[in-house]
Amino acid sequence: MLGTMRTLAKNLRALASGNDLVAQLEEALRELEAQRQSGTAAEGICRALIERHYDGWPAPPAELRLHVGASDGLVNFWSKGISSSDAVVRAFGVDPGGPVLDWGCGSGRTLLWLRRYDAWRTHYTGCDVDAQAVAWLRSQGVDQVAVCGDSPPLPYDEATFVGLFGFSVLTHIPPERHRQWYEELRRILRPGGVAYVTTHGAWEAGKATEAARRSFEAGGAAYDVHPHTNHYKDSSIVSADFTREAVRGLLDVVDYAEQGYLNQDAWTLRRAQEETL
Ligand SMILES: C[S@@+](CC[C@H](N)C(=O)[O-])C[C@H]1O[C@@H](n2cnc3c(N)ncnc32)[C@H](O)[C@@H]1O
Repeated sequence: MLGTMRTLAKNLRALASGNDLVAQLEEALRELEAQRQSGTAAEGICRALIERHYDGWPAPPAELRLHVGASDGLVNFWSKGISSSDAVVRAFGVDPGGPVLDWGCGSGRTLLWLRRYDAWRTHYTGCDVDAQAVAWLRSQGVDQVAVCGDSPPLPYDEATFVGLFGFSVLTHIPPERHRQWYEELRRILRPGGVAYVTTHGAWEAGKATEAARRSFEAGGAAYDVHPHTNHYKDSSIVSADFTREAVRGLLDVVDYAEQGYLNQDAWTLRRAQEETL
């Protein structure tokens, strides 16, 4: 049992490169060992961590967890949030220094883990087309979240944010609409502001339907429609060249990492600094 817990802790640790979180995971593990707690080990570790360091924030109901993932599993929900929040802190630091938008925030999978930083509590803003998820976040006292439309514009003034991030949002928006979204993301960023977004790329194409794979190989873009009942389960797949073209003249590519966020490609984009408004 304890051996299994150690392995699971190691896996969680591998997801979280931030030293602070590693220390917290180790502490949670020691606590569980001391209590000889049984139950699903990884779930226990996450619960102990959240109880001790994250105000005991509740997980959203299973239905909402399913809106943002392929499964409604608690560990899946929490560990994805550890990965995304870790990427956010790497991109923007523990204090982003101004307002940052979580575009497609869902039910706060990333926010949960960012809340340990005072500056993020101050600067965090989220929006999502999913009114149910936004209502749940509000019911937990998060009031800086809004319902947005499925097409631009977002409900923010020009140059509102010093940064924004969108985990697995463009992955569900058809490729032909990506440029329109990059225009909108640029509009709400301040000059010099950074956008961190993820896309589905070659890895996803490898497990797509044959029609989608053929379209990706031929033109660098595909929209793989799945029979589903959940939110946003269709998959938009784009090559790196496609995205470079989609952002051309709008945002500079600061960094591109194939499978830089789990199996998704990660893009760090910047609105040019020298522009005057
Ligand atoms: C796979 S989930 C990821 C949620 C969240 N970013 C996370 O990592 O936990 C995709 C999210 O994008 C939202 N979404 C899809 N299209 C959107 C749009 N045009 N504007 C805002 N949110 C959108 C969905 O409602 C869903 O919450």
